[in-house]
Amino acid sequence: MSFSIPRGTQDILPGESEKWQIIEAKAHDLCRRYNYREIRTPIFEQTALFARGVGDTTDIVQKEMYEFKDRGGRSLTLRPEGTAPVVRSYVEQKMHGWVNQPVKLYYTGPMFRYERPQSGRMRQFVQFGVEALGSADPAVDAEVIALAMEFYKELGLHNLKLIINSLGDKESRESHRSALVNHFEPRIDEFCSDCQARLDKNPLRILDCKVDRDHELMTNAPSILDYLNEESREYFKNVQTFLEEMEIDYEIDARLVRGLDYYNNTAFEIMIDGEGFGAITTLAGGGRYNGLVEDIGGPETPGIGFALSIERLLMALEVQGVDLMQEHDDLDVYIAALGEKARNKVPALLHQLRAAGFSADADYMDKKMKGQMKAANRQQAKYVLILGDDELAENKINVKNMEDGTQSLEPLENVKEKLMTGVTEKGEK
Ligand code: HAM
Repeated sequence: MSFSIPRGTQDILPGESEKWQIIEAKAHDLCRRYNYREIRTPIFEQTALFARGVGDTTDIVQKEMYEFKDRGGRSLTLRPEGTAPVVRSYVEQKMHGWVNQPVKLYYTGPMFRYERPQSGRMRQFVQFGVEALGSADPAVDAEVIALAMEFYKELGLHNLKLIINSLGDKESRESHRSALVNHFEPRIDEFCSDCQARLDKNPLRILDCKVDRDHELMTNAPSILDYLNEESREYFKNVQTFLEEMEIDYEIDARLVRGLDYYNNTAFEIMIDGEGFGAITTLAGGGRYNGLVEDIGGPETPGIGFALSIERLLMALEVQGVDLMQEHDDLDVYIAALGEKARNKVPALLHQLRAAGFSADADYMDKKMKGQMKAANRQQAKYVLILGDDELAENKINVKNMEDGTQSLEPLENVKEKLMTGVTEKGEK
């Protein structure tokens, strides 16, 4: 019997996992600077949370959820996204009562969607996302967008396109909704069965249909921007002004509706421009969701956020030839030992070196000296400590600098100090 990894998932192996660590460290550092704090919610939630939060006419809820019953008969779902869980926690933990408002949170972690796997579209993928709850200031919209753009910029991506739109407030959406119904209704039988069901329940979703996207009624469908009331127009204008003052370029696309139901006012996506990226060009998406907290049982609270996947970011970095591993951390020290006594001394010596902050390793495969030196070279160790029974009898050890090839015999108790100066001199510790 042999086993294989489930479709749409991946193993992240050494060599690749370091890139993830660099990206995750960047997320933590950036959020610290923008004053967002980490939240960790469970991997699964009650199914009803997503039906209510993400919207039961969305593809995510209708087609893509990993839903299961636990042994107590409860319907649970592996989270397809992070916003509804964060809002559930916000309500349950009464964060609206916290003194510091808005509540600014971020998360990184796996999400699950039963999608048709292709490059950049996984069934398990890792999102980094932020959510700011409690303020309806357009400056927060600009801050969230700026954070997302800065993240990519600091990791070295270029040629990004920021697309923004406004979906309007409740009143604007209502009038847009009737315009959409009037537009599509007479010819709705030319559309797919999903769209026919959407007409009544959520006509905006028709605009996001992948099957009917080329239908002529799609191109001349009523634009939300023509239905924004004064307040929504003003709000959208303010977001744009803040972006301009931050020198963040953007394009407005009235057809940007997003695939989740909770949005109103600002919606945005970050796309990658250029060749070599295949069909998937959206790197990140987000927007404002002023009704979601109430929908999930909390007090009326505005919110905005975005999420991006690390998988798509890595693809983009690869396409643009950005090497995150330039500053790869090599091994500081490798201990090569010969003779039984010397070998028995290695574990304690490694332990001391590691406690002093060095990355250190040794041979556990009973290799000869030549093999051990080869292993040290392969792992690009900066120093090799060569220990034989003779040296040990004198309490000494050979310290070999692998960069310049010099070697000196040192008293064992001086080794840490010797390494410390060597490693610091090269400016690498
Ligand atoms: P979303 O647009 O569904 O929004 O997902 C955000 C990002 O997650 C996408 O732009 C993409 O980078 C990544 N993504 C989505 N599905 C996959 C997949 N199957 N494989 C790889 N990457 C994927 C949300 O999830 C919202 N919760 C964002 C948000 C936060 N809005 C407000 N706050």
